[in-house]
Amino acid sequence: MNRVWLIGLLALSGALWAADKHMGVATCASSVCHGSSSERSEANILHSEYVIWGQRDPHAGAYKTLLNEQSQRIAKNLGVGPAHEAKACLVCHSDYVPQAERGPRFQLSDGVGCESCHGGSERWLSSHTERGVTHEDNLQRGLTLLQDADVRAELCASCHVGDSERMADHDIMGAGHPRLQFELATYSRLWPSHYRDDEAYKERKHSPESLELWTAGQLRSARNLLQGLGSKRFMATPMWPELAFFDCHSCHAPMDSEKWQPRAAGKLPPGAVRLNDSSLLMVGWLLDASDPAAARQWRQGIASLHDASQQGSAAVKKASGKLLVQLDDFSSRLTEQPQLRPQPTVLFKRISEDALRATFNDYMTAEQVLMVLALLAEKQEADPAMLDGLYKSMADQHHFRSAEFLRALRQYQNNVAE
Ligand code: HEC
Ligand code: HEC
Ligand code: HEC
Ligand code: HEC
Repeated sequence: MNRVWLIGLLALSGALWAADKHMGVATCASSVCHGSSSERSEANILHSEYVIWGQRDPHAGAYKTLLNEQSQRIAKNLGVGPAHEAKACLVCHSDYVPQAERGPRFQLSDGVGCESCHGGSERWLSSHTERGVTHEDNLQRGLTLLQDADVRAELCASCHVGDSERMADHDIMGAGHPRLQFELATYSRLWPSHYRDDEAYKERKHSPESLELWTAGQLRSARNLLQGLGSKRFMATPMWPELAFFDCHSCHAPMDSEKWQPRAAGKLPPGAVRLNDSSLLMVGWLLDASDPAAARQWRQGIASLHDASQQGSAAVKKASGKLLVQLDDFSSRLTEQPQLRPQPTVLFKRISEDALRATFNDYMTAEQVLMVLALLAEKQEADPAMLDGLYKSMADQHHFRSAEFLRALRQYQNNVAE
């Protein structure tokens, strides 16, 4: 068969598969399935996944959050009716699939349930426990390949960063929603795991280590940002672009005439509102550590994007489109050539040296830098207490001083070198 046809056919069947019904958390929760009150040591899986999710996983309470006072206030400010009935909230706080994809025991009130992440179970629910059925069979029937770092990054970022389907826009923020921050490896750690990531698991499945997750997460965050900048969402009103794409603190900071400083990444005049480029800067360092020529080109692209942000949405679309092409190219090379993956020592050196050249001075980039330094500290077997100074310099997002952060970073660099 002609290749184009084959791809078309796969895309078509993919679109049909996407309509697998979500059967509801109740269908997973029996005590002989995933609702066992204790872990089963003899089995591959814990069997207590539902209990862990229900008792410790914040996703189980995501819908319930919509009933609390803070959510009621946000929804009232927005005028969207009750939060727990508003699509604007349910898209991220529940498994918001279309009516036709909701099975008889499905409930929105289950919040971010098993099938929000593992995929609709219509075609694998009854078969996945049968003798002789393999993991590949389940994947064929629509189970999501969550052991793949890129697939996981796409999933988690869809709610934690926002994608074409859902986004925490500035009107939601303005109404009182917390600012979203995300880094895949760190968030994977914060998340109470309901699987045993041991040797036996690693024999059955790929288990991405922290830098692989970090890489996949940064590439995905950058992609979602660039796609957003090139979409209609960027210019939602003729007067203002969507402010959630910008650095929050470039507006939300106390007025202080001594605060402004030039920034090496993307030269903008004082007073300009800056796009939130933190994920783009992280990808720059990722490239430094794996493909220096591409890194230079990427940085030129970031500078052009900042220039474009002073010109208009057509220019932004063009500049983000260019970066997206580079990102695609790099992502596919990274998949084909795993030796391009960044080495922890090189990454550490590039980030810390470059940071000290006043590459950035914003809170949101510093936050990302601190998260990757914490991951690298573990690889370098550095004492985590050495990071305390950096955490301290970031304690208050509204009075952040990059000079303090950089001082703490220099200190940390010296300590690691000793
Ligand atoms: C369908 C949307 C959705 C998806 C997919 C999703 N999350 Fe979440 N996540 C949420 C929401 C909403 C909350 C906040 C829940 C609450 O407190 O009400 C949350 C909370 C969290 C928290 C707690 C954050 C904190 O401040 O304590 C972590 C950690 C987390 N998610 C990690 C992940 C990871 C890792 C993935 C991917 C494997 C993921 N999430 C996928 C929507 C999602
Ligand atoms: C783009 C996805 C997205 C949308 C849309 C969204 N949220 Fe959230 N919300 C999240 C995530 C993710 C978190 C957790 C953030 C974290 O801790 O990192 C969260 C956290 C919250 C929290 C704080 C929860 C806590 O435990 O502190 C409240 C309250 C909340 N959301 C209410 C709402 C309401 C009301 C709406 C609709 C107007 C809404 N959200 C729309 C993703 C979203
Ligand atoms: C926020 C996303 C998310 C939610 C919600 C979630 N899972 Fe998972 N689950 C994952 C990820 C990521 C993994 C690890 C990758 C893998 O093994 O496929 C995993 C692993 C598992 C495994 C281990 C598979 C193995 O081979 O060892 C089981 C079983 C499982 N989940 C069942 C459930 C059940 C049951 C629920 C609901 C009660 C649930 N999950 C809810 C993301 C999620
Ligand atoms: C271009 C400037 C600009 C950017 C960038 C921006 N905001 Fe705002 N924000 C505003 C303005 C203007 C208001 C309305 C203030 C008022 O009503 O007095 C506002 C209101 C808010 C409010 C309500 C509290 C308040 O002060 O009224 C929150 C919360 C908020 N923004 C969060 C964010 C977050 C989070 C981001 C980044 C994702 C962000 N903003 C980016 C300009 C901005």
